Amino acid sequence: MIIAIDGPAGAGKGTLAARLAAHYGYHYLDTGLLYRAVGHQMAERGLDLDDAAAAGDVARALDPSHLAEGELRGREAGERASRVAVHPPVRSALVEFQRAFALRKPGTVLDGRDIGTAICPDADVKLYVTASPEVRARRRTDELNAKGRDVDYERILAEIRERDERDAGRASAPLRKAEDAVLIDTSALDIDGVFRAAVDIIDAKRGQIGTNTA
Ligand code: CDP
Ligand code: CDP
Repeated sequence: MIIAIDGPAGAGKGTLAARLAAHYGYHYLDTGLLYRAVGHQMAERGLDLDDAAAAGDVARALDPSHLAEGELRGREAGERASRVAVHPPVRSALVEFQRAFALRKPGTVLDGRDIGTAICPDADVKLYVTASPEVRARRRTDELNAKGRDVDYERILAEIRERDERDAGRASAPLRKAEDAVLIDTSALDIDGVFRAAVDIIDAKRGQIGTNTA
């Protein structure tokens, strides 16, 4: 069983994916961390983020099973990730690890931008999770303020719009909803509401394919 979750920054993909994985006892891969790690290593080595060949080398040398998650979470890492994610050599270097992960038993949840379209086009369930830029910026602002970080909503909104444009506008595996993905607009839903909607979709599919691991 492979559950693919795609959508723009701050839509609630990670929150949903982690909860689904815990609920079904599946393995969870946050694929954004891979791109974040590449951007982070480039910056640490003083390499130019726009250098596609150098970024590809860094991505090929990456050990995805040992990522220092803590230092990759921040906004700067997200922005760097989206800049290196436009390079085809980076994307192709990361495909194999993601596809092998997706096949782990008894099932997997992967979230990102291109899981349903490029990494796992045959996923059993595809969800496209989205929300308006304003709602996503509000959530991110509240999340950071709750951590004691004083951030400006307008600035976060501008960053989200910029990231949306770069992710959806790139030539290589751009962010878009797969034709067979189910759209979940979380603008007016809380975390529980999104989770219940997703479980209904997944359980219907598990019933059809006769999966009985839970
Ligand atoms: O992974 P992604 O960037 O899509 O989003 P996330 O990190 O899961 O969620 C971003 C923020 O929105 C977190 O603080 C979540 O708690 C919050 N959230 C929410 O308020 N309502 C939802 N329905 C989903 C997420
Ligand atoms: O949590 P948030 O949605 O802000 O970001 P993320 O999922 O950690 O992804 C960071 C960046 O990595 C995205 O803006 C994309 O540019 C890139 N990414 C990608 O291109 N393909 C993926 N499957 C996952 C992330």
